[in-house]
Amino acid sequence: MRIGVIDSGVGGLSILNVVRAQVPAHYFYCMDNQYLPYGTKSELFIRQRLVQLTQYLVTQHQVELVLIACNTATTQAVDHLRQQFDLPFVGVVPAIKPAAHYCGARPFAVLATQATVNGPYIEQLVAEFAPANDVELIGSSELVLLAEQKVWYRADVAAQVHRVLAATSLSVSKTTAVVLGCTHFPFLADEIRSWLGSEVELFDTADAIARRVMQLKLQFAFNDEQEKSADVFISTAELDAIQQRRLSELGFGQHLCWPNPAETEKDYSSLSSLS
Ligand code: DGL
Repeated sequence: MRIGVIDSGVGGLSILNVVRAQVPAHYFYCMDNQYLPYGTKSELFIRQRLVQLTQYLVTQHQVELVLIACNTATTQAVDHLRQQFDLPFVGVVPAIKPAAHYCGARPFAVLATQATVNGPYIEQLVAEFAPANDVELIGSSELVLLAEQKVWYRADVAAQVHRVLAATSLSVSKTTAVVLGCTHFPFLADEIRSWLGSEVELFDTADAIARRVMQLKLQFAFNDEQEKSADVFISTAELDAIQQRRLSELGFGQHLCWPNPAETEKDYSSLSSLS
């Protein structure tokens, strides 16, 4: 079975790492670093971009299922993608339901991108699953970029993460739990936890996503022929030498850059203007 995985950066790896430990498949991870971060882009831009990336994964790599390993892209585009393509999509949305279940009527916070916290999807999730809770929504793209620094360059970002959190309205004394509503943020879990203190519970969705992917694999009876092939890492802008060296440690046997960098400006100039 061939599975496409999409995110703007390394965030989706926090999902992929859990999914591939549970679901044997041939994975094609598409990192849209050309347009990182997604959290500051418009809904129209994200929708159009996700259509392009899906099209590419389906036509060039024959993926049979697409995992949108990004809360921003899921909340802005997954309904549209399901209408456009005849294949199963698995999306990632902030773990508001389990957090509300854990908190009872106590308050909790959702830490995500600006696009996610400002969109209507999150309002629906809160209204449906946490109507009795005081839910504080906090958006940050700075944390996304710090996660990139940590994963690629092993940078010590603790002080910067603490500074970003201190500048938000997040009230440690009031918060019982924090939902990591961006797939980049599990990579900062230690830094976030050391600022919040150990009494505050963190929630993410990776395990639930792995169960859903497995369920679809069984439901659609996808074949297992390709499973031994090395996973492919696709970036939409070139990687530097350090990033290229990290790919094998991150579990990838092949790197492709799409589109060819020479074509990028020509073909994507109209899309950039939408951001
Ligand atoms: N990792 C993504 C998410 O879950 C997007 C981060 C970004 O590019 O802003 O929302």
